[in-house]
Amino acid sequence: MSEIKKVDSIECQGKKVIVRVDFNVPVKDGKVTDDTRIRRALPTIKTLLDKGAKVILMSHLGRPSGEGFESDFSLEPASKRLAELVDTKVIQADDICGEDAKAKADALQPGEILVLQNLRFDKREKKNDPEFAKELASLADLYVNDAFGTAHRAHASTAGVADYLPAYGGYLILNEVETLGGMLENPKRPFCAILGGAKVSDKIKVINSLIDKCDTLIIGGGMAYTFLVSQGKTVGKSILEEDWVDKAGEMLEKAASKGVKVLLPVDVVVADEFAADANHKQVSVDEIPDDMEALDIGDETVKLFSAAIAESKTIFWNGPCGVFEFEAFAKGTKAICEAVAANRDADSIIGGGDSVAAVNKYGLADQMTFVSTGGGASMELVQGEKLPGVEALRR
Ligand code: 3PG
Repeated sequence: MSEIKKVDSIECQGKKVIVRVDFNVPVKDGKVTDDTRIRRALPTIKTLLDKGAKVILMSHLGRPSGEGFESDFSLEPASKRLAELVDTKVIQADDICGEDAKAKADALQPGEILVLQNLRFDKREKKNDPEFAKELASLADLYVNDAFGTAHRAHASTAGVADYLPAYGGYLILNEVETLGGMLENPKRPFCAILGGAKVSDKIKVINSLIDKCDTLIIGGGMAYTFLVSQGKTVGKSILEEDWVDKAGEMLEKAASKGVKVLLPVDVVVADEFAADANHKQVSVDEIPDDMEALDIGDETVKLFSAAIAESKTIFWNGPCGVFEFEAFAKGTKAICEAVAANRDADSIIGGGDSVAAVNKYGLADQMTFVSTGGGASMELVQGEKLPGVEALRR
């Protein structure tokens, strides 16, 4: 398998370089509300500009129908935000690789940026259609992929284009792969993985993979209740995947046989309904009332989890411990976030999605060693799968 060529080594003076970025960012009233993914793409973009390239950026945003332009999914807000972050001209194309994009790409000067319209306005993108990939490639001389967040998708812009242009890996994509890969291959020990989120079924492969790698596995969030049921407990109206109870039990047995310590909640905050203003109280996991549902971990659980986090040298966190969107049920997730941030000796790696939203919400992102820009992509990497967007760079 060939080595990935890095953007450092690219010779691109006066050349057109098409870069796949992941500008799939939240937009409200025409404004980007979280520009993390745009800022994290800047090192690659700036390197190319400094090397005298004419930079053409392409990305998807959201999940449009694939039947042409839809204003709600326009990349223009992302282009505008980018223009505020870079010291150069940013031009927005009206289409992806049609007449407007071609004309603007031809007129592009070294040191300038052209942003194509949302790739998913053309349904051929998600189908990894070779003709579409060829049309994208025809706009440029060289291709860089820096879209880690979309690297688990084999789409025309993330995989297909690499068949038609010399391909390079950007700083972000390679940094993500090295950090998450390094964590799995050679973690500083003890290695503690904290997994939360609603469903066991979504995380089973990640759990399985992490049991092979970590020393302590902390399970919080909605999926903890399926594990508690596998231990014979009753969980009232808490979220439960009955079909996954046996599998959860098998995972606990596997962990025990490998000497991995598994920590489950010992107390929880139960509510009489799923609502921000629900009546709630703290109870032991042995006393969850039949007519109530657990929406957060309790104080004793926070102490138990925090102690394990404090003695770890590598911490990986994916998924909240409770319904942190509701203030009354955010205490557990906030406390775990603070415990991870407080361990300054550990490599703390936040694996995308809701845990990133949590560290941002509590202003602790810059206290972490690494915050991944990929939700699905980081999960697939951690569960040991090859990412098509990365593998395409090896051709
Ligand atoms: C993400 O936000 O996870 C990526 O941008 C991929 O988006 P998708 O799940 O719509 O493919």
